[in-house]
Amino acid sequence: ARVVVLVSGSGTNLQALLDAIAADPGGYGVRVVAVGADRDGIAGLERAERAGLPTYVCRVKDHADRDAWDEALTEATAGYEPDLVVTAGFMKIVGRAFLARFGGRIVNTHPALLPSFPGAHGVRDALAYGVKVTGCTVHLVDEGVDTGPIIAQGVVEIRDEDDESALHERIKEVERSLLVDVVGRLARDGYRIEGRKVRIP
Ligand code: GRF
Repeated sequence: ARVVVLVSGSGTNLQALLDAIAADPGGYGVRVVAVGADRDGIAGLERAERAGLPTYVCRVKDHADRDAWDEALTEATAGYEPDLVVTAGFMKIVGRAFLARFGGRIVNTHPALLPSFPGAHGVRDALAYGVKVTGCTVHLVDEGVDTGPIIAQGVVEIRDEDDESALHERIKEVERSLLVDVVGRLARDGYRIEGRKVRIP
């Protein structure tokens, strides 16, 4: 399957996908055809360039408004004809045009056990709430914020001594292997959406 990955930061989830491809190019079933970002100068884009992949940057501030940005992101992404789009640490909410084009084919990873702690600060919010377990969720993107059908989750226990960054690092270890597993299965086996359930044969 052709996959476009969207990133905003360090890109370790992207790297995990690239490593899985490199380890078993045929068997894994995923081809990253391009990496997009909403900002320049991030490690995620460097990882893509190191892997010899095309990259593109679509910044909100270069567009008249959010809808124009969303349409530009949609067109740039569509140019690579992805079967799946993976938002891996992409810190923007995609808009109507993007959903109209790629809805049901956008996979996001979130560092909390949805539906708890959606939004940009899932790790911090879980810690502040005082829950004892948290984790990560790989899900399909819909029009809400972290509300789409859940595909898989991984659990991480919170330790007394955790701060946000220590906890996030442990979550990200689980998150990377979960994302690699889920994207590979979606790509190889296909899937169908039944209400809130994502069925992989
Ligand atoms: C991940 O924990 C993702 O869920 C979150 O930001 C992190 C991205 O990490 N929203 P990376 O850029 O893949 O290293």
